[in-house]
Amino acid sequence: MTNSETKATLSFSDGSPSLDMPIYKGSVGPDVIDIRKLYGATGMFTYDPGFMSTAACNSSITYIDGDKGELLYRGYPIEQLAVNGGDFLETCYLLLNGELPNAAEKEKFVATVTNHTMVHEQMQFFFRGFRRDAHPMSVLVGTVGALASFYHDSLDINDPHHREVSAIRLIAKMPTLVAMAYKYSIGQPFVYPRNDLSYSANFMHMMFSTPCAEYKVNDVLVRALDRILILHADHEQNASTSTVRLAGSSGANPFACIAAGIACLWGPAHGGANEAALDMLESIGSVDNIPEFIAQVKDKNSGVKLMGFGHRVYKNYDPRAKLMRETCYEVLNELGLQDDPLFKLAMALEKIALEDEYFVSRKLYPNVDFYSGIVQRALGIPTSLFTGIFALARTVGWIAQWKEMISDPEQKIGRPRQLFVGSPTRTVPPIDKR
Ligand code: SDX
Repeated sequence: MTNSETKATLSFSDGSPSLDMPIYKGSVGPDVIDIRKLYGATGMFTYDPGFMSTAACNSSITYIDGDKGELLYRGYPIEQLAVNGGDFLETCYLLLNGELPNAAEKEKFVATVTNHTMVHEQMQFFFRGFRRDAHPMSVLVGTVGALASFYHDSLDINDPHHREVSAIRLIAKMPTLVAMAYKYSIGQPFVYPRNDLSYSANFMHMMFSTPCAEYKVNDVLVRALDRILILHADHEQNASTSTVRLAGSSGANPFACIAAGIACLWGPAHGGANEAALDMLESIGSVDNIPEFIAQVKDKNSGVKLMGFGHRVYKNYDPRAKLMRETCYEVLNELGLQDDPLFKLAMALEKIALEDEYFVSRKLYPNVDFYSGIVQRALGIPTSLFTGIFALARTVGWIAQWKEMISDPEQKIGRPRQLFVGSPTRTVPPIDKR
């Protein structure tokens, strides 16, 4: 972050003294105006609901160019990482450490993660408290938060070693917990992780093996899942990452912070959109019903949105959506489902939307959630688990951002202010006078 030659000068039409504020330049992307002295100098706050024009921190992890539809993890384009940049654990190493691992570093990292994939044997008893039909995200919020009760040896957030151990434990155990949530929901026994399988193959094993039959690893499907995880790994200061940072700013332990991120991700406007997008496609049913559905979306009173479309930052095609669509082709072809009606419906809906003035004028394009449900469904993952898979993938991004925040010398507890529009001071009347 460097000082810009120019400053921002705030002046007031009522003749109040103007205020010069420094402008900082990043390595790429919008500059920022440092308003930290604003309240002390003017007694006023800025007002920015939804943080449309607010940079809450400086970060070197992920950069999005919304106008160009570009996404970089530590400077590497997502297209390179997802297609020929190795596997998800290489991306995890990159996000956590800032550089891609060499062969020796990767081998050590994979071995470390692999040896933390089991959860404490008592974790299984938490699941019994849930109904079998509990939404997996409710199970994950509960069980990830509960991890803090098992790992008292890695809760000191000021100890770099504790931070490192917690990061590995969370990355390693999320697939195990997500698979356990699935097994619990279908009444099958939990399946222990295996150390001889890759991260994504191990997840598929824990999801689809049973005591009677071992899951047969299909490399195309495992590669597809690995790519889905890479595409979802991090995404700047989105709502759930900001939740993790805000929780972490109070000194809360990393397991509690990740549980908070999972809770936020659950919302249909955020990570819950992949589940909502598939439900939307299934409710539309056929290409013939698209015009009526689009008309509903345009009718503000309907409250209907085109799920999987639109984005706060991307005002162009989400690069992850393109890669997800390619992954759809690969998986459906591998499974002989080329004519999957839902995929055809999704492509028809996308084509119609991208030619419709309503969506074009609002720069609404497919986002990562539009196709991810179709490919996950083809992999055999139930709709209700889609957001759990998103949380599994995003855990590395959340934890990388959390670690960056903890070690940021500018870090303070997050405590936004408000524009108060409620009642000024008044006296409590006795109840017979109310
Ligand atoms: C993710 O932030 C991230 O990086 C998130 C994420 C990540 O990796 O972490 O990328 C993951 O959350 C992707 C987004 C998934 N959500 C959805 O697909 C749900 C549907 N999308 C919308 O809810 C919406 O697009 C948001 C929430 C994603 C973005 O909303 P904004 O930026 O607040 O924009 P807005 O709601 O102000 O919309 C601007 C206009 C409005 O119309 P007007 O008031 O101008 O007439 O566009 C309309 C909106 O009504 N609009 C939509 C729409 N999205 C926006 N209309 C119909 N369908 C949509 N999907």
